[in-house]
Amino acid sequence: MGLIAPFNLPLELDALRALPSVHRVVRHLSDMKRIYHDQEAVAAILSAGDPPIYEFLELANPTSDDSLSFGLTRISPGKIGREYHMTKGHFHLNAGDEIYVGLAGRGLLVLQSRDGQGRELSMLPGSLCYVVTGWAHRTVNVGEDDLVFLSVWSATVEHDYETIDRHGFPQLVLADAGRVAVIRNERFTGR
Ligand SMILES: [Fe+2]
Repeated sequence: MGLIAPFNLPLELDALRALPSVHRVVRHLSDMKRIYHDQEAVAAILSAGDPPIYEFLELANPTSDDSLSFGLTRISPGKIGREYHMTKGHFHLNAGDEIYVGLAGRGLLVLQSRDGQGRELSMLPGSLCYVVTGWAHRTVNVGEDDLVFLSVWSATVEHDYETIDRHGFPQLVLADAGRVAVIRNERFTGR
C-alpha cells in the first residue's frame, strides 16, 4: 500500500512494528547460512537451534516513480565462527541511490563495486552513509549491542540478491584478537 498523505514518525522499532503497512522480515541463520564463511560453525549453531540474525521493517512506497521507500533494520550482536552477524546484501538492478543513517550500535557498511572492488564505511549513531548506484551493500554488526539503522531508497529500485548469493563479497569482516578485521575473501568469485 502506498503512503498517500504527509506524515511523521518516531524512528523507533516499536513505532514501525505497529504500522499496518509495515512489511516485517526476520532472517534466521537458516535463511542465509551459505553466506557465512565458516560452514562448520554454521552447522554447529543450527544443530542447536536457528537464531534470528536480523529484523527488517520496510515501508515500501511505490506510489509513483518519485517516491521514497524506507525501513529500519536491527541486527543482533554476535558471530558465526569469527564472522560478525550481517545482512545478505544486494546490488540495485536499476538506477537508484540509498542512504543509511546509524541510530544505535556500531556497524560497518560493506560495499562492492560492479568490477569487484571492496570498500567499507563506518556506521555510528548519528552518521550517514551514502550508497551510490552500482555498489552492492551489506551491513555488519561489529559491536556488542544491537545495530539499528534507517535506510532510505528510491521506491523504483529493484533488488539483486542473486549476484551476492553466487559470488559473495570481496571482503570478510572478522573478529581478530578482540578487534574488527577486514580481510580478503578468498572464495569471492566476482570480477
Ligand atoms: Fe539497497
